[in-house]
Amino acid sequence: MTRTYKIAFLNGDGIGSEVVPSAKRVLESAASKIGLSAELFELPIGKEALKNFGRTFPPLTVDILRQCDGFLLGPLQVGSYPKSDPDYPMSSGKIRKTFDLFANIRPFKSFRGIASPLYSNPPIDFVIVRENTEDFYPDRNLFKGYGEFWPDRDTVVSLRVITRRASTRIAKTAFDLAEQRLKKRVTVVHKSNVLIEGDGLFTDVARLESRNHPEICLEESLVDTMALKLIQQPERYDVILTTNLFGDILSDEAAALVGGLGLAPSLNAGDDFAMAQSVHGSAPDIANKGIANPSAEILSLAMLLDWLYAKSKDPKLKETANAIKMAIDGQLGSHDSADRTVDLGGTSGTMEFTNRLLKRIAGRIPSIPV
Ligand code: NAI
Repeated sequence: MTRTYKIAFLNGDGIGSEVVPSAKRVLESAASKIGLSAELFELPIGKEALKNFGRTFPPLTVDILRQCDGFLLGPLQVGSYPKSDPDYPMSSGKIRKTFDLFANIRPFKSFRGIASPLYSNPPIDFVIVRENTEDFYPDRNLFKGYGEFWPDRDTVVSLRVITRRASTRIAKTAFDLAEQRLKKRVTVVHKSNVLIEGDGLFTDVARLESRNHPEICLEESLVDTMALKLIQQPERYDVILTTNLFGDILSDEAAALVGGLGLAPSLNAGDDFAMAQSVHGSAPDIANKGIANPSAEILSLAMLLDWLYAKSKDPKLKETANAIKMAIDGQLGSHDSADRTVDLGGTSGTMEFTNRLLKRIAGRIPSIPV
């Protein structure tokens, strides 16, 4: 019997209401071409939810998400919600925590036709595996009463939480991923010369996990050195395992290497549930101008389909993901400037870029194999 996959779309703030609907249209089109049965629907979150429901993360949204197979979340303009919001402090991290999406998988690869402003051949192909539930982020800490304390008006103490449990499951995720890849290398990134206890624990756990993966080479790097090497030799990296904040910062650097945040997808995964969400934020500087690049959201959605395929082995999921990736590869690799958005030096806005992608998926413009 054909299974119907329920996938929710949450626009979020800023460019979210431009790029998330674009991703939804692309999935509708690819699913219909492949014959994947999918029920796609929208749910409120962020400022839109605040306006209509009086809070940024309504319980109804949470309840419905729990019944879905997965969802795509747009960016949230964190820091702009009022303290009167019952969900304050609201962030993507709160959602990751609610659904225990402990692994943030962020692939960065060179696209044919997109020149890196910082680097040329050989191609870049690495994945940042970022711990997603703890570290310095107050809304991700494990304790009530967490976060930032103000003993007096001139002192701020921030609590950083690193646990053996969270470090172990993210290390396992990184090594399992490296097993499936060619270079067979995990680089654990830390600052254990300064954050001696927390990052000492994180690195120790990576060393322990490496014993279960004799095929995989483990190397260690301080985060500041990593920031340097990522620019100097990005092609040598494979799987980069790191903590929450370092992973967040290195991701933007990595995005710059491959052409910008418009090309940086990501998946937030737990044991039984996953959420697609690109690396970028709400981009207030370009919001409502119709020029945001939707590729990152679209590729995040393809990651979600691949994740669902790994769980269910339903070939239609894989075929739909491949149809989407092929269309993006074909479009970015084209010499026609209308096939790229303005952030990539092209002439298309979000809508035109999406319309051309839909034509590719429908086979009206030829695409190359993934
Ligand atoms: P940002 O990621 O929104 O934008 C950084 C730069 O990249 C801007 O110049 C923007 O125009 C450009 N950019 C981002 N996405 C793009 C796209 N799809 N196409 C073309 N250009 C794109 O970072 P920013 O401006 O520092 O943060 C804005 C807000 O987003 C803040 O409130 C921040 O907290 C929030 N944020 C939310 C995230 C999330 O919900 N996952 C992640 C990062 C930031």
